Amino acid sequence: MSRLKGKAILITGAGSGIGQCTAQLFASEGAEVIVNDIDAAKGEETVASIVEAGGKAAFIYADVTNPESVQQLTAKAIEQFGRIDVLFNNAGISGVGAIHEIEPDAWDRVMNVNIRGVYLPCKYIVPHMMERNSGNIINMSSCIAEMGLARRASYSATKGAILALTKSMQVDYAPYNIRVNALLPGTIMTPFVENYLRSSYADPEEAFASIKQRQLTGELGRPDDVARAALFLASDESKFMMGSPLYIDGGVVFGKNA
Ligand SMILES: NC(=O)c1ccc[n+]([C@@H]2O[C@H](COP(=O)([O-])OP(=O)(O)OC[C@H]3O[C@@H](n4cnc5c(N)ncnc54)[C@H](O)[C@@H]3O)[C@@H](O)[C@H]2O)c1
Repeated sequence: MSRLKGKAILITGAGSGIGQCTAQLFASEGAEVIVNDIDAAKGEETVASIVEAGGKAAFIYADVTNPESVQQLTAKAIEQFGRIDVLFNNAGISGVGAIHEIEPDAWDRVMNVNIRGVYLPCKYIVPHMMERNSGNIINMSSCIAEMGLARRASYSATKGAILALTKSMQVDYAPYNIRVNALLPGTIMTPFVENYLRSSYADPEEAFASIKQRQLTGELGRPDDVARAALFLASDESKFMMGSPLYIDGGVVFGKNA
């Protein structure tokens, strides 16, 4: 299992859900994984699980919305690993409500984590990639960038922005041999979705049953489904993919579930 052998990969928000599962998969494929999260206990748990399985990983704390914190993360990662071959901007939070229901602070929080939290790691890590004339960036968008879903205004705005940003970044950095692609998952069963169901619906079980029906499979995705797509993007197998969206959504965007 060596599809990522020799690569140092930084994953933001790798203490839970998709980020954690991806960190574990990447390590099992030979990557040295830099696990970032704002929750140190959860990040350390991810590292412990990787080390226990014989892989290589280290936790570095950072709040991806804070420039000093992200600069420190970058400096520590370069010091410990010598380079960052792949940056996976995965950290993100949910936002519930139609526009008229969302308070400005809640709006700003979602924009901050989901957009600024991609901008800042790119801002500080891309110069190292440019210097080495090599790099690979994976940005976490969502299939909500391509479709309307009820009461998800702030969240959808961020994920649409990430898809647009991915395309612009690809044009800017292609001359430096840096690839930039986006992941567009459908609904994946993680703590993020469990919280969303609990906080948004009077009957979370009923909501869960109805959300499952959105997929042509009749089931939600699993973190591993997204991690395997991320593995393809992180590896050199995807070397001809540039500025592209990769959908992992059980047919939600393009399938017709009449
Ligand atoms: N679960 C889904 O259905 C789904 C679908 C499409 C896209 N996504 C996206 O995938 C990504 C991961 O989602 P998940 O479902 O695994 O969520 P999750 O809540 O399980 O994990 C997100 C992690 O990000 C961390 N984080 C939050 N704010 C941070 C910050 N400021 N700095 C550093 N880390 C921070 C959290 O502590 C958490 O460990 C998010 O960007 C989400 O929008 C999820």
